[in-house]
Amino acid sequence: MLEQVKETTAFLKDKGITAPKIGVILGTGLGDLVNEIDVEISIDYKEIPNFPLATIEFHHGKLIYGKLGGKQVLAMQGRFHYYEGYTMQQVTFPVRVMKFLGVEQLLISNAAGGMNLDWQKGELMLLTDHINLQPENPLRGVNIPEFGPIFTDMSAPYSSDLNSKLIDIAARESITLREGVYVAVAGPNLETRAEYKFLRNAGADVVGMSTVPEVIVANQMELPCCAVSVITDECDPDNLHPVDIQDIINTAKTAEKRLIQLYKHLIKEL
Ligand code: HPA
Repeated sequence: MLEQVKETTAFLKDKGITAPKIGVILGTGLGDLVNEIDVEISIDYKEIPNFPLATIEFHHGKLIYGKLGGKQVLAMQGRFHYYEGYTMQQVTFPVRVMKFLGVEQLLISNAAGGMNLDWQKGELMLLTDHINLQPENPLRGVNIPEFGPIFTDMSAPYSSDLNSKLIDIAARESITLREGVYVAVAGPNLETRAEYKFLRNAGADVVGMSTVPEVIVANQMELPCCAVSVITDECDPDNLHPVDIQDIINTAKTAEKRLIQLYKHLIKEL
């Protein structure tokens, strides 16, 4: 895999992605941050050697490079999910490439189901920690020293510096930003009532199907990261309605403006 990462890095450098400082991975229904970028280079995933293809229609599948808030940003519009059939190595491949390209901080977003019933759908949650319930692990296999230690420390998976900046920005901009624990499940099915109960009792505030693999790899590669969830549905086991994926996407779209505001300010301040 090292050779593939090097090959993809060389390809992207050759295309002009020479000095990205901040990496961004945008979740389901949350791709519009790229509209804020002064785009210099935009490449379809399908043109990038060794990149998996985005398979789900609402994922745009583009790597976008340009300036935002005076910084060189490299954004993934659309990410790879385990539930689409990729291996965890494929899911996290772009994070490794970002690090090799020189990215110094990684900003992530996702859509998640809200299990903390004190919070409401449409609100944002800053990840302070996570629980990984996904099968397979992106670090599993023969260790490649250039990527970092196999027994990656996860005592502080989210950068306290980035998180405190986001908390300050949210307060200043009057954006409600909850803080809590994200649990990652494989998907693609949603959860049963018993599962929501179980996950909530396990200590999680929201549940989703992404982010954690990328965060594990970012930690292995010593790439400071932060992640914000948009709470797209309320998962109350005692009052559970059939989930509507379009409703999830619509809620993500409504909340996205606040997420964009948060990340725009953060990028400016970095
Ligand atoms: N479960 C898992 N993933 C999700 C959910 C959920 O309830 N809502 C949005 N993504």
